[in-house]
Amino acid sequence: MSSNRFNAFSNHGVGIGLRIPHYQDIFSRKPVVDWFEIISENFMIDGGRALANLDRILEQYRVVQHGVSMYFGSVTEPDPEHLKRLKQLVRRTGTPWLSDHLCWGSVDGTYTHDLLPLPYTWEAVERTAERVRNVQDFLEIPVAVENVSSYAAFTDSQMTEWEFLNEVVERADCGILLDVNNIYVSSVNHEFNPMDYVNAIPAGRVAQIHIAGHSRYERYILDTHDHPVIDPVWQLYDRAIERCGRTPTLLEWDDHIPSFDEVHNEAKKANKFLHKYAESAAEKVAAEAAQ
Ligand SMILES: [Fe+2]
Repeated sequence: MSSNRFNAFSNHGVGIGLRIPHYQDIFSRKPVVDWFEIISENFMIDGGRALANLDRILEQYRVVQHGVSMYFGSVTEPDPEHLKRLKQLVRRTGTPWLSDHLCWGSVDGTYTHDLLPLPYTWEAVERTAERVRNVQDFLEIPVAVENVSSYAAFTDSQMTEWEFLNEVVERADCGILLDVNNIYVSSVNHEFNPMDYVNAIPAGRVAQIHIAGHSRYERYILDTHDHPVIDPVWQLYDRAIERCGRTPTLLEWDDHIPSFDEVHNEAKKANKFLHKYAESAAEKVAAEAAQ
């Protein structure tokens, strides 16, 4: 896969997460939404109301799958049955790419259901990249790994988080789901400059961007997805789009979910940044094609 493989998704625009409290509004009003992101695990079932609702969405909208249980960094191999069901859903939705997190969360078949940060070691790079590559080969669609927010770090890490991300995606030949809110949260918790992170990512591999709000406590920030996006996160997003060009963008809002319109309006603020760089990105692509 070339590092320009993800350019194909540049027209996706701004999506929002598909959430049950919004179903009625979506089905009755059929609002114009560029695309919906679904949590794969909510639909890896045989029939029933959830799949019927998903099929109704698919009649009208583009859907992209996001997962929360692949645990690319875990030592335990993924469950083959889980992968098979995931591939069935991939075929059903026609998702152009699939994302999950660069983290670990299971040991010997016991799942924490948390997205735990990895030690940034060469050993973890090799193992995680091999896992991502195998999953990508099995699913036969591009996979994008998402940076998680973290609250603790390993003393035996051998590189920064962004160096780790770079090494994994190069070896796996996969994409990145760049979560700029997670970068901001981790930068406050671990005291690094979040712009250093955004400036270091391989721009050609960024398939999608997540934006979100979070909760600030006295001594740390928690990635809660229950607030509007704050200015420092928009600044990171601005820089990411400047570097990556038009990139499919998704607003995450998972708790204390407000009305559909409120979530949609917050998401659409991203268009200002996408339009700002549209011209220069198009010029860049044209210039590259002419070379
Ligand atoms: Fe995210």
